[in-house]
Amino acid sequence: MPESNRSIYFATGNKHKFDEAKDILKNYNIKVIMIRKKAEEIQSDDLKKIARHALLKALESCKSPIIVEDAGLFVKTLKGFPGPYSSYVHRTLGIDGIIELIKNKSGREAEFRSVVAYGDSSMIKTFEGVVKGMVILRPRGISGFGFDPIFIPRGLRRTFAEMTLKEKNKYSHRAIALREFAEWYLGSHL
Ligand code: IMP
Repeated sequence: MPESNRSIYFATGNKHKFDEAKDILKNYNIKVIMIRKKAEEIQSDDLKKIARHALLKALESCKSPIIVEDAGLFVKTLKGFPGPYSSYVHRTLGIDGIIELIKNKSGREAEFRSVVAYGDSSMIKTFEGVVKGMVILRPRGISGFGFDPIFIPRGLRRTFAEMTLKEKNKYSHRAIALREFAEWYLGSHL
């Protein structure tokens, strides 16, 4: 069992995601314990389906209550690509590959989407977060991970990779989904 009914597990192979979640959830007095497990991913166009599948797998083999998270970068001029395939595309084409794909196209609008899936012995529930912004052709910054160096949230001038973790957490898709989750969790676990 977690140390208190305000402790949850987070199954992820991504320490950055864990650090972001820890920082958000501590504001709600929810302790998060990392289970270093790369979520088993299915291929789907739908982040929610991917997150639910990963959660069901995690519930089979890990302790609960537990969350998993699935996210992606959706670039408008690429009709939403890489979207749910972001992890694979980042590993293969990388940031440069995305820049190559968009450099001769017009329009830089993009959004990050995140789905947090929560599960315990009696239920599962999902929470979504979206941050709109733009992608840029010259990566900037060294913080964070993934496509952070080429994404600027709408209304701001700096990329996620030029922000501290706390700044990124003011705007990010993951932070929005996690805050939704935390509000619900506290409301139902008083
Ligand atoms: P997954 O959620 O682990 O499947 O990863 C999705 C991929 O999308 C990651 O490998 C990153 O390349 C990218 N991604 C998701 N969230 C973020 C973020 O907050 N910043 C930068 N890249 C992200």
